[in-house]
Amino acid sequence: MTTLATKVLGIDFENPFILASAPPTAKIESIDKAFSLGWGGAVFKTITPDDLEMIEASQRYATWKVGNKVYGFENIELLSHLTVQQWLDGSKYLRQKHPTKVQIASIMAPVVKEEWQKLVETFNDSDIDAFELNFSCPHGMPEKGIGMAIGTSAEVSFMITEWVMEVAKKPVFVKLSPNVTNVAAIVDAVEKAGANGFAAINTVQSLMGIDLDTFEPMPNVNGKSTYGGYSGIAVKPIGLRCVAQIRQHSDLPILGIGGISNWHDAAEYMCVGADVVQVCTEVMLNGYGVINSMKQGLLNYLESKGLNSPADLKNKAIANLSAHEKLNKQKQVYPHIDDALCVKCGKCVTICDESEHSALSLVDGHIKVDTKACVGCSLCSHVCAKSAIKMK
Ligand SMILES: Cc1cc2nc3c(=O)[nH]c(=O)nc-3n(C[C@H](O)[C@H](O)[C@H](O)COP(=O)(O)O)c2cc1C
Repeated sequence: MTTLATKVLGIDFENPFILASAPPTAKIESIDKAFSLGWGGAVFKTITPDDLEMIEASQRYATWKVGNKVYGFENIELLSHLTVQQWLDGSKYLRQKHPTKVQIASIMAPVVKEEWQKLVETFNDSDIDAFELNFSCPHGMPEKGIGMAIGTSAEVSFMITEWVMEVAKKPVFVKLSPNVTNVAAIVDAVEKAGANGFAAINTVQSLMGIDLDTFEPMPNVNGKSTYGGYSGIAVKPIGLRCVAQIRQHSDLPILGIGGISNWHDAAEYMCVGADVVQVCTEVMLNGYGVINSMKQGLLNYLESKGLNSPADLKNKAIANLSAHEKLNKQKQVYPHIDDALCVKCGKCVTICDESEHSALSLVDGHIKVDTKACVGCSLCSHVCAKSAIKMK
């Protein structure tokens, strides 16, 4: 029988969909509701020592929309506003009410050994299942030398992970930043320091846009703005790439995150190494209820593939990722035009002509392919508004 249940570092997940550390996990009542609606677990909004100042800006979000659909989401939000004691009490309450749900405490502290260790020790005997070290928030925190300032330095990431591992009594995941040129260097450093797993990605540093009337950047905070963190479906390819690169460098478990908006995205993350996945922006845009189609869709897919559980899907695509120089370049594909779908708009002809190859022409009411000029790049198939071109 196919199941969505899976085990990571001895922790039982009733399904592989958990909420990422963000507004949907900022209040105990919200997590309580999400658990009741079927989420397998939650990473708490990042907890910090109570005396770390947390003053939020208004507005704190900006979006990239096409029509009504949000493709990219930017935030300049900071971390949790609950106290450590509120999280401890909340975790206990959630454990009693939802004993089977996974609770992960996301934590961040100044770069001071005692501060990190104190936070870990405080939660060691609490009801959480694991820690997630936030080394990757790209705004607000790096100015204080934390967040992404940690996760972009292999040395600092190593040092803090080692401090945490000295005292942690629960599994520790390190949440990595995509804002590095070589994620493998950070992976190696935190694995050497003893981390038990990874979470990736946090948001991608971004600048959403400029109002061309006022020259004010977005999100507009009293006329000024700052660089923010980009998330949502636009970042999925970046998240997938990071998770695949982590998997190519480590066998440790990975909590895959970034632009997951449906079961299909989740399955892709698993194929490149994710054990379970986390979701944030999709829930912020459409509510906790999205869990139902995510669970059902993944279950149907696993069944259709004859796979027993998410663990069977893990790493399925990794062997098919290789260096550019190792790709088989002997075989070429060509565009095949479906005449029934083609409206002869000529866009593919123009684009092919203006983007180097001039391999297409409109002859006697049909798109003709010059196979000598065609290099099989596939651009024509991507610009066709009618999906009339298939590369074969
Ligand atoms: C408004 C907002 C607040 C966030 N706050 C946190 C946070 O406190 N700690 C953290 O580790 N990640 C935080 N994140 C990052 C998310 O957990 C997640 O890594 C990122 O948004 C990518 O996933 P998504 O595309 O599903 O949103 C936040 C993201 C958003 C949009």
